[in-house]
Amino acid sequence: MKIIRDTQRNCARMAAEEYRKLLNENPHCVLGLATGSTPEMLYEELVALCKAGKLSFKDVTTYNLDEYVGLDGSHPQSYRYFMDSHLFNLVDIDKTRTHVPCGIGVTDEMAAHYDDEIKQAGGVDLQLLGIGHDGHIGFNEPHDAFDLGTHCVDLAQETIEANKRFFDGNEDLVPKQAYTMGIKTIMQARKVLMVANGKGKADIVKKAFFGPVTPEVPASILQMHPDFILVGDEEALSEI
Ligand code: F6R
Repeated sequence: MKIIRDTQRNCARMAAEEYRKLLNENPHCVLGLATGSTPEMLYEELVALCKAGKLSFKDVTTYNLDEYVGLDGSHPQSYRYFMDSHLFNLVDIDKTRTHVPCGIGVTDEMAAHYDDEIKQAGGVDLQLLGIGHDGHIGFNEPHDAFDLGTHCVDLAQETIEANKRFFDGNEDLVPKQAYTMGIKTIMQARKVLMVANGKGKADIVKKAFFGPVTPEVPASILQMHPDFILVGDEEALSEI
């Protein structure tokens, strides 16, 4: 595990540099992407690099971590909408190569097919992650099994509360379930990059990376990943 500590902006720049290198070395690479507040600054940096001609997404394939059950891509709080508006519509990516789990009309079998698609695309070269206050990665909540692929989950109350800020502060509007890549899917990525920002993440970052590896803290499994980088600001890393 490699840990990088700097300001939020510098963390985003360093993370963007990882992408610049990867996309220049391997223009056909497969990216695993995340949503939420954490990657917003990184996506800004990637858009700027693309506009400056320093990287191109032209031949890149992407798979997002998760999507809320019941929201289709035109819903402003869906993760497809987030990705289109924060990255895909702003860079030179071929949108037909971008994948976000479908939130509507999906059976468990269809959800599991996401893992087959990732495999057929060659596997994820670089998986981006944030971390939930309860230690979730993707939407793998505490006690979810480590050996699951893409599946449907019930969101923990803590996650619903944390995410209501995107739904006019109204908990009732937050979907209660999501489709998420499983921990197994995430661990199969060749490289994993986690970004963590802010004081609110300090306790869970300590638990996840300096405590036992346990399904109670899903992110702790990343201690076992052979190529894992944690990039965090002073506040998020203040307890380690
Ligand atoms: C998002 C995702 C989640 C978030 C996590 C942190 O695709 O999979 O695990 O990374 O909930 O969210 P923020 O960044 O909003 O604090």
